[in-house]
Amino acid sequence: MYHNPVLLKECIEGLDIQENGIYVDATFGGGGHTEEIVKKLNNGKLIAFDQDKDAINNKQESKNLKIIHANFRYMRRILTEQGFTKVDGILADLGVSSHQIDTPERGFSTRFNAALDMRMDSNSVITAAEIVNTYPVARLQKMFSAYGEVTNAATLSRTIGDARQHKKINTTSELIIAIEKCVPHHGANKYLAQVFQSLRIEVNQEVDSLKDLLRESKDVLKEGGKLVVISYHSLEDRLVKNYMRYGNFEGIPDKDVYGRERSPFKPLTKKPIEASEGEIEQNSRSRSAKLRIAERIAIAS
Ligand SMILES: C[S@@+](CC[C@H](N)C(=O)[O-])C[C@H]1O[C@@H](n2cnc3c(N)ncnc32)[C@H](O)[C@@H]1O
Repeated sequence: MYHNPVLLKECIEGLDIQENGIYVDATFGGGGHTEEIVKKLNNGKLIAFDQDKDAINNKQESKNLKIIHANFRYMRRILTEQGFTKVDGILADLGVSSHQIDTPERGFSTRFNAALDMRMDSNSVITAAEIVNTYPVARLQKMFSAYGEVTNAATLSRTIGDARQHKKINTTSELIIAIEKCVPHHGANKYLAQVFQSLRIEVNQEVDSLKDLLRESKDVLKEGGKLVVISYHSLEDRLVKNYMRYGNFEGIPDKDVYGRERSPFKPLTKKPIEASEGEIEQNSRSRSAKLRIAERIAIAS
């Protein structure tokens, strides 16, 4: 299976699909969510994005489905080029697909020895190896703290800094060996997953892309349109939550001269929706999923 869609029913309900509406699936992946959205369309259209060529190669388009190889951070421009200025709903299921993780040569997984690559888009320039071998130690530390919540980020970064002076770190195994002494005995797998996750987020500029997507969703959604986002990382979830609540990433209320709060969105989920025990049992990837839904509203003037 390419990828088992997470919180499928909840996402579809959240999108509140109109059969003639225009929708965006920002993260096509294995097409699980896309397939379910398309089933509900009559004359409507779904524009699906993925920056990974491998995900969309040989995928069938239809009268209701257009698939585009692009980063979702350019959604607005691409939609305009396709003749759409406003849409009724946007879905983003962030991060990597199971297929990407399980393809050894992509370098996403701690389980396989491969080149330290981790690019979702093979046309993009920076790889995980370049980050590991060229970033100053202080920048590595910031990255491991922010994106992996690695507790000993300073020691880890210094260790990498020392190791690469002797020999370039080119592969996943070389990285794991180089940082061996930083890895705790208990929870080694979790620790390595956090290290790899930080690199992946940095390689793919996932935080900046998400911010761009959220900003553009404000411009692209019709009034009443739905924004549906699944994130797998607390930092991403915080950005989504703040944007849906306040229209900014810092979580600062924007007030008009009368002291009334103004926000382009109304959150429809106070707390994020999480996967049930049953879904987690079937699909372990759903364990860390947090789904938030908001509606585009008019800003009071
Ligand atoms: C979690 S998977 C999506 C799975 C999909 N919902 C399904 O049901 O099969 C995330 C996908 O989004 C893609 N992706 C991640 N960030 C992206 C971005 N900034 N622009 C476009 N695609 C992105 C990845 O390449 C990956 O294929």
